[in-house]
Amino acid sequence: MATENDPSAPEFWDVRFREGRVPWDAGGVPHELAEYLAGASGGGRALIPGCGAAYEVAAFHEAGYEVIAIDFSPAAVAAAARALGPLQGTVRLGDFFQYDFGMVRFDIIYERAFLCSLPRRFRPDYCARVFDLLRPGGLLIGFFFYDPGESGPPFGLGQGELHDLLKERFLLAADEEARSSVSVFAGRERWQVWRRLD
Ligand SMILES: C[S@@+](CC[C@H](N)C(=O)[O-])C[C@H]1O[C@@H](n2cnc3c(N)ncnc32)[C@H](O)[C@@H]1O
Repeated sequence: MATENDPSAPEFWDVRFREGRVPWDAGGVPHELAEYLAGASGGGRALIPGCGAAYEVAAFHEAGYEVIAIDFSPAAVAAAARALGPLQGTVRLGDFFQYDFGMVRFDIIYERAFLCSLPRRFRPDYCARVFDLLRPGGLLIGFFFYDPGESGPPFGLGQGELHDLLKERFLLAADEEARSSVSVFAGRERWQVWRRLD
């Protein structure tokens, strides 16, 4: 498959960022995350994989987290640099599955529109990678797209699919319908908090 037609290749996303075809872009920090961070004790290490324009970096930073964001599309990283100004050094250009984040594990991994951007065959690798990068008790928080359709991106989760993928290694600590979805996800997104088991 030509890389510009393959969502597992950076070029697929690069052309969309360059041409401004970014219907997933929320243009700011989603309400649910702002609310979560306002109630969190703060501090610790946070990771934002497949960060796109990475607006959420500033929210984590202001809430006291040491935050790193990563995206493998140079145009996405450039968009993040524009959005973040002085915080742009927190954004890495690299592949979430390959990048060396060092020895210290994360307290939080924030998910938004990254899992559903990946072809379905990557789901087990995503879950294993998130598990490996989080400390025991660490949290996978964010938005998960549920849709029975075959095509994508966005590639929707089936009912119970994420639970089946995570249940051996995570506990679902919160689960509610998302209230701040952009139109491409509206009515099909859930805000969830998964806690890593030991
Ligand atoms: C649909 S966009 C979502 C961007 C952002 N999370 C948001 O909410 O606006 C998916 C992003 O994931 C990035 N991406 C896809 N696969 C990746 C990988 N293996 N490593 C790093 N970034 C990846 C793409 O470049 C793209 O910026």
